[in-house]
Amino acid sequence: MHCNYNLEKAQIYVNRMKEVVKKDLYRQKYHITPEVSWMNDPNGFVFYKGEYHLFYQFHPFSPRWGPMYWGHVKSPDLVHWDHLEIALAPGEIYDRDGCFSGSAVVIDSDELVLFYTGNVFTGPDKNRDLVQKQCMAISKDGLVFSKWEHNPLIGNAPANASQEHFRDPYVWKHGSNWYMVIGSRNRNNLGQALLYRSENLTNWDCIGTVGNNDGTLGYMWECPCMVKTGEKHILIFSPQGVEESEKGLKNWHQAGYLIGEFDYDTVNFVHGGFTELDQGFDYYAPQAIIDQQGRIVVIAWMGMWESEIPTQDHGWAGTMTIPRILEVREDGLIKCLPLPELKMLRSNRREWHEITLNHIDDLNGLSGKTMEIKMTLGIQDMKSQKCGMMLRVSLDRKEKTLIYYDRETREVVFDRNSLGCGPKGIRKTRVSANCRELDLQIFMDASSVEVFINRGEAVMSGRIYPGKDSNGVFLFSDAIEEVKSLIVWDL
Ligand code: FRU
Repeated sequence: MHCNYNLEKAQIYVNRMKEVVKKDLYRQKYHITPEVSWMNDPNGFVFYKGEYHLFYQFHPFSPRWGPMYWGHVKSPDLVHWDHLEIALAPGEIYDRDGCFSGSAVVIDSDELVLFYTGNVFTGPDKNRDLVQKQCMAISKDGLVFSKWEHNPLIGNAPANASQEHFRDPYVWKHGSNWYMVIGSRNRNNLGQALLYRSENLTNWDCIGTVGNNDGTLGYMWECPCMVKTGEKHILIFSPQGVEESEKGLKNWHQAGYLIGEFDYDTVNFVHGGFTELDQGFDYYAPQAIIDQQGRIVVIAWMGMWESEIPTQDHGWAGTMTIPRILEVREDGLIKCLPLPELKMLRSNRREWHEITLNHIDDLNGLSGKTMEIKMTLGIQDMKSQKCGMMLRVSLDRKEKTLIYYDRETREVVFDRNSLGCGPKGIRKTRVSANCRELDLQIFMDASSVEVFINRGEAVMSGRIYPGKDSNGVFLFSDAIEEVKSLIVWDL
């Protein structure tokens, strides 16, 4: 009872406030965004009765993190998303302070089952005074969810795991068994992913851990998920407390993967090193599923803990990345491509070929907030030191976001230092040594940029908050340069 009341109250608030928030200049056009208030991790990504459903960590009453609800959207095609009513609200003894992250599965094409973490704070220290347990909720129609009457589903963490940091269950089926990975911290304060097995989804046994942490992979692994492609298994997770390195890992927390061979019988996962899935500013808690076409589709929160979020003053916060396809590359790492179906959003194609660029080119006054841009640059015989794009440029050209190639360091650079408001900084990613031609595919929405480098070799994502008239799009270089081609669409 209590719980339904929370849900109704939250929905009334959302319905009342959404018209106000709609008008904000930073509202995203084609990215999943909460109608109002705060959003973080994607949860329960699943295909159910002909449509994709995605849930998300949601605090309906304010644009800041608070007791977590599950917001809910669905889509026929992974491109167009509709908001549905809130799916879960906290309020039971075991989830009083939040329905934390989790996943979903479908049983017999009929029941949609959600797995989530019930969070309870037991004192003032939000890092120490808490108890987390795994819970379940069930729906027959994909709209209304009932918490399982025997919750919690998994109450006690195993002996070598903290009960305080025991969250984010991700469930999948292999053979006749169900498996679940749970984010955890062991008694030596190292992050780990616990693996459970069940025959019936209600009785679960812990059968070990997946993924080795030699001490370099942080003190807590959040939001683990596991998918298989060909002979390889990929464990995706978001470790907290990983040290910054030469190669990257610049954000407050990281999100990436381990790839290798996993043996279900021995629970042995032989894998390589940890690699980030995105080298930009804002990327966390990615969740992957195998879609109807057998592809690995992953959606992440395009945000970062502790980052400044100007839209909190406008009643909302948070957006997802576009859906991305993960594929294994020849070198055994992963490439990450934009969902091809996003092409259906394209309109108004314009193109330029063999451009001779003299420091700056305004491309006949090209401007826009929501665009896809493809740029090809020959980098083997490049004359300039730096060459790339300026996006969301203000009329006086002082405000801009830069995406460019630096010949000396062989890096693609995402520079958001020249923005009027919001967090600043630079992120870089190195291009492979044998690369002759650089291919950039950029997705811009009202307050985000996602850059795909060399057909998925690397990706960099970040939120940006430009002024309302900062819409110019320019090419730039620091010497006369030849740009092979530029294709632009409005989205
Ligand atoms: C990751 C996370 C999860 C947790 C959720 C709470 O961003 O910290 O581990 O379940 O957010 O909102």
